[in-house]
Amino acid sequence: MSISRRTLILGAGAIGLVLAGGVWRVTRLPEAAIKPWMADGPPPADMRLAAFRHAILAPNPHNRQPWMIRLVGPDEAEISCDLAKRLPETDPFDRQITIGFGTFLETARIAAAERGVRMEMTPLPLGESQPRLDSRPVARVRFIKDASTARDPLFAAIGQRHTNRLVYDPTRPVAEADLARLVTTPDGFTATEARIAPLRKIAMDSIRIEQETHRTHMESVNLMRIGHAEIDATPDGLALSGPMMESLTLIGQLDRAQLADPSSTAYKTGLTMQAETYGSTPALFWIITPGNTRADQLEAGRRYVRAQLQASLLGLAVHPMSQALQEYPEVAAQYAEIHRQLGAKAGERIQMFARVGYADPVRPAARWPLEKHIIA
Ligand SMILES: Cc1cc2nc3c(=O)[nH]c(=O)nc-3n(C[C@H](O)[C@H](O)[C@H](O)COP(=O)(O)O)c2cc1C
Repeated sequence: MSISRRTLILGAGAIGLVLAGGVWRVTRLPEAAIKPWMADGPPPADMRLAAFRHAILAPNPHNRQPWMIRLVGPDEAEISCDLAKRLPETDPFDRQITIGFGTFLETARIAAAERGVRMEMTPLPLGESQPRLDSRPVARVRFIKDASTARDPLFAAIGQRHTNRLVYDPTRPVAEADLARLVTTPDGFTATEARIAPLRKIAMDSIRIEQETHRTHMESVNLMRIGHAEIDATPDGLALSGPMMESLTLIGQLDRAQLADPSSTAYKTGLTMQAETYGSTPALFWIITPGNTRADQLEAGRRYVRAQLQASLLGLAVHPMSQALQEYPEVAAQYAEIHRQLGAKAGERIQMFARVGYADPVRPAARWPLEKHIIA
């Protein structure tokens, strides 16, 4: 065999290996990061941990999972915020982070009830932390075995609930009767295009403002986990995964620097993709509270997770669009306008605003294991 032919064969083999490696790499999915979703083994003997292993699956802003759990005595726990996991640019008063404690606590309560355990909660036992959260606990909870505790049908949806950011099916309208099962007065919903159109515009303007405002955009960019290896290593933040993202990363078309650079294709594609999903809005629901205390925010989280769990049971996809509700100056006009359009009276706050529709299923978002949340 001539040298040149051998070289060619070796060369082809090497290329084949690279390609095989590439295919293997682009089709790989995060593994460790989604283990917490498989809470199907025997539950821990400690009834608190048995509830919290479900609670860590709760929706929470930017998937920061800021929940710190201190076990107290045999049946209590103090829940506080990992202050490093807040979002100071887009959530300057920790309002959304607190909503994510409401979702966590309600999910814990539902999971405890499933095992005949009643969860009693004292919100903010050492007082309201304003204008930002501090090291004081957000809640103190106590678990009591009580055979009379009613089971909650939403338990069945905890492991299936996922935020769905895909484009929703434009041919499948959402029945008002189903929306009415997600939220009740004072919260609201609409599937009427004439009402949705101006709200859609506010949502789309706000996402553009957030991306074009360097410091708010960078808050998201810095929390992006690109590809399965990053997601498994740091299972929180905003995940970019799947074969397309892995391929773009492999050929050097997707990284944090490009996502931050307004002239890059990655940045422009991000904006187009966001406009597409935020524009696909067959129906909307929102959650409103009479004021904006920490207790209001916890209550908003409780109602939001219940709405999303109920939606999962009905086969509906849900995607919060929080950009117009945020309290940084560049988005003040959209903030005022969304409150006006949704009929909020003086002092009332729209805490959550989400699109609803039918879509393909999505994969679970990453989670840290429960042990990571337990503090001494
Ligand atoms: C208060 C709050 C605000 C949120 N805002 C948005 C948002 O504006 N856009 C978005 O895509 N997801 C939003 N989410 C969803 C979270 O990003 C999501 O819950 C998190 O990434 C975990 O994913 P999962 O819900 O699929 O488990 C929000 C969630 C909460 C609780």
